[in-house]
Amino acid sequence: MQIVKTARALRKQISQWRLHGLTIAFVPTMGNLHAGHLSLVKKAQQLADKVVVSIFVNPLQFNDQSDLSAYPRTLKADTEQLIESQCDLLFTPNQQSIYPEGMDAQTKVFVPNMDDKLCGLHRQGHFDGVATIVLKLLNLVQADVAVFGEKDYQQLLLIKKMVTDLNLAVEIVGAPTCREPNGLAMSSRNQYLTDQQSHVAGELYTTMLSIVEQLVNGNKDFSLLCEQAKDRLMHFGFQPEYVDIRRDDDLELAISDDKEIRIFIAARLGQARLIDNLACNLA
Ligand code: PAF
Repeated sequence: MQIVKTARALRKQISQWRLHGLTIAFVPTMGNLHAGHLSLVKKAQQLADKVVVSIFVNPLQFNDQSDLSAYPRTLKADTEQLIESQCDLLFTPNQQSIYPEGMDAQTKVFVPNMDDKLCGLHRQGHFDGVATIVLKLLNLVQADVAVFGEKDYQQLLLIKKMVTDLNLAVEIVGAPTCREPNGLAMSSRNQYLTDQQSHVAGELYTTMLSIVEQLVNGNKDFSLLCEQAKDRLMHFGFQPEYVDIRRDDDLELAISDDKEIRIFIAARLGQARLIDNLACNLA
């Protein structure tokens, strides 16, 4: 696996591959890789000849400075895992090369209708930071396809919209959430949990499953279902931020006729802010 730090070296390799008619898939990450990320790499390998992974902890998407400083940085272990996974190229730019004039001077991307709901409402400026870095990385890598996890479903929709709205020549593909045996969605933030909390954290998934069961049984009182879910989470020691039932395609609050819907949860448990979502088809 090649490891490149500069845009120049990255471009050189990409154009070599292009010259040989090879296709490229891209998996952007912030590192601290786990099985969820490696499943994205695997998916990328099925979609193109060469796979590029980037690791860049993007300060522009952190609305909380202490969250940014605490974010786990494990480049050595990440590199080993990527070699093992037969990734072709790892791109690890530094902050200076991504934001040479500082973050305030950086042109930013705003994707409408996202900052008024779910994580957009609770993490001010977060999605502008995500859209901006993803656009920059997509422009640098020039991949045919880029793979993102469905665990960050709002992020996935935001990126799809940005790519459509800005006519980017890249296909965005979502990949299913990887879960621990107790249902907890894999996330770099899970390591902020104690063993006891990791055990309890499976309740997020159980709570979503129980909402799905009630929806499938014809319960259409969405706001009551969400309130009950919050009570249940509080009972287990979570501090729920939101529990929402929304339309799968545009994230508007679901109404009783909607068929393709999705449950979204964000809750704090100890030091960790956990998010998860689950699709539910009522057709
Ligand atoms: O999902 C992530 O890890 C990040 O938001 C991303 C897409 C790599 C942008 O920094």
